[in-house]
Amino acid sequence: MIPPEFLSDLATQQGVSKSELAALKLGLAGYSTADIGEQLGISGDAARKRLSEVYQKFGIAGRGPVKLTKLQQLLVTRYQEALEKGTAVKAAELEQVDWGNAPDVSVFYGRTAELEQLERWIIQDRYRLLALYGISGIGKTTLSVKLTQRLQPHFEKIFWRSLYYAPLLQDLLIELTTFLHGSPLDPALATVSEQMDWVMDYLQHHRCLLVLNGLESFSRKGDLAGSYQPNYENYSQWIHLVGTVPHQSCVVTTSQEKLGEVAYLEGQTLPVGSFKLRGLELEQAKAILQNKGLTGEDKWQYLVDGYRGNPMMLKLVAETIKEVFGGNVGDFLDTSLFTRDIHNFIERIFDRVSDLERQILYILAEQNDGLSFKQLQTQLSSINAQDLMSALSSLRQRSLIEHVDQGFILPPVIKEVTQQIMVSEA
Ligand SMILES: Nc1ncnc2c1ncn2[C@@H]1O[C@H](COP(=O)(O)OP(=O)(O)OP(=O)(O)O)[C@@H](O)[C@H]1O
Ligand SMILES: [Mg+2]
Repeated sequence: MIPPEFLSDLATQQGVSKSELAALKLGLAGYSTADIGEQLGISGDAARKRLSEVYQKFGIAGRGPVKLTKLQQLLVTRYQEALEKGTAVKAAELEQVDWGNAPDVSVFYGRTAELEQLERWIIQDRYRLLALYGISGIGKTTLSVKLTQRLQPHFEKIFWRSLYYAPLLQDLLIELTTFLHGSPLDPALATVSEQMDWVMDYLQHHRCLLVLNGLESFSRKGDLAGSYQPNYENYSQWIHLVGTVPHQSCVVTTSQEKLGEVAYLEGQTLPVGSFKLRGLELEQAKAILQNKGLTGEDKWQYLVDGYRGNPMMLKLVAETIKEVFGGNVGDFLDTSLFTRDIHNFIERIFDRVSDLERQILYILAEQNDGLSFKQLQTQLSSINAQDLMSALSSLRQRSLIEHVDQGFILPPVIKEVTQQIMVSEA
């Protein structure tokens, strides 16, 4: 709302120091003093002191949180006055954030630990490439938007894009360079590699956050996780470049499968990493069911666990429970664990897997306990060990199988849907 330049100018006029300004920006972005301390590498007390200096310099009296609200009001008033006098530029004209078609994330539960860890990686550890992955519906897109909102004060420019429509890299780079440059680039820099160079140079000289959402749009269906469709392989090169060449920006990707480029680079002490997003915790998942007006609360835990806290699947199933069972989860569970919508949702995920992965899913769906690698090998005697290993690791990267003490198992809802598919194919 208030452009950072305006805020810095005004704060400087009031005698606010650079370090106090940094604390103020985080405070305005909604961080607690403890979080501000952590982000700035000082104690929570020191952060509180800096903020109280700021309040004093702006002549704000009062107690605790009220002071921040008062200061916010004061800043808005000053900004509006400056706009009227023509001494400030409208925030929109500065346009430092391009949200693309990012979804609204105002309904958002939990994820505190995830946000903290991701912020630590990006702010303190200065990760330059971070790949968020997890099964469809688990909340990657939502989390990436929330994360971006929270990181806003730390970056000069932010570019958030969904890749659902699978843009070619050259088309995405035109949008990106136009945004970063403020106007289209010189047409002489037309090739993809020239544009990539320009972007890398920009990322080296400016601190930018680029979020690329839904990279699975580029992966080849029916192949192991992490393979690219023809015409999209240059994304892989670009991601590799972003991870290996030093720069001061951060690129965050989300995808349904773990990115091979990142798996390869992480752990080499490079500031590169991947983060597997799991389901919501019980309480937060229950909040979704509550929001949908469901009843039969003693059975909610069973439902949430069956769906491994997947918010999308829980929303889908809750809709049917409401319509058919008047919202009673117990009555629904007496009948089935899943609905037609869920079946279709999971089939779309299965569409992506290879033949061998599907065979493994079918075998695991018939087991009550986990199967070890050796046991699977016995059942799939015509498959060589290397292919079996790749297929299992691909299934894990897609979050379709889990590993417990006894071996590999399917999450409950995946298991039941797989069994139904097997029956219909028999
Ligand atoms: N923390 C959360 N609190 C409340 N609702 C959530 C949360 N995370 C996700 N959701 C809801 O769950 C649904 C799926 O989330 P989202 O679209 O982020 O999943 P995704 O992992 O990006 O899925 P896909 O891989 O299919 O793109 C959305 O309707 C979203 O609003
Ligand atoms: Mg998504």
